[in-house]
Amino acid sequence: MTDAQLVKAITKPAIVASALPANFARLGEDCRALEKAGVDRIQWDLMDGRFVPNLTFGPGTVAAARAETDLPFEAHLMTLEPEAYAASLADAGCELMIVHAEACPHLHRTLAAIRDAGLRAGVALNPATPLDAVAHVLDLTGLILVMTVNPGFGGQRYLASMEPKITAARRLADTAPHPVEVEVDGGIGPATAGRAAAAGADVLVAGSALFHHPGGPAAAVTALRSAAEKGRP
Ligand code: DX5
Repeated sequence: MTDAQLVKAITKPAIVASALPANFARLGEDCRALEKAGVDRIQWDLMDGRFVPNLTFGPGTVAAARAETDLPFEAHLMTLEPEAYAASLADAGCELMIVHAEACPHLHRTLAAIRDAGLRAGVALNPATPLDAVAHVLDLTGLILVMTVNPGFGGQRYLASMEPKITAARRLADTAPHPVEVEVDGGIGPATAGRAAAAGADVLVAGSALFHHPGGPAAAVTALRSAAEKGRP
């Protein structure tokens, strides 16, 4: 199957809102606005100031937002020892927990612990990390997150050099006997969503593009979906 045939098989990419740019004084309102805007999921970026040079929030914030929306929640852990948070994130109402391969010396054990906590498990790869890092744990993985920025901050420039890795991740995901999503996070907006979708992404994470769109989140979602559709073969 050619890359184009491979990507053509993907249904419309899901749009996931990163809550990183949210107004945390009005988090409930922002969650409701995202739901009204039509995003498919909300992603909570947990950062510990050690794995990445930024500190955000913990499972308590996720739990507080849970009652504000019916949208599915996923957590992107940019932390060391992420397995320590599996139980509390499950209790907080997350369905999916994404950990960085670079933060997990025992990735197989970490993914098994996440699944034992009742969560789907995902693996995130920094730009410099080869896809091989997930090759031997695909049986435990429901999502491969290809980072198109170096993690830690929103509003960064999309790294187009990651597109071959997105396509390779799509190929790898399609060898699994179970569904494996290919998610892309970092610099996703109307100008880049088509490229990421064309490369093979079926989940697009956007923060700045959603919260800073002049027309508001609903207009941003429409622009992202249209760009993603146009970009696919
Ligand atoms: C990086 C974060 C960001 C965020 C999205 O650590 O993971 O990628 O989710 O940020 P934008 O969409 O503003 O690039």
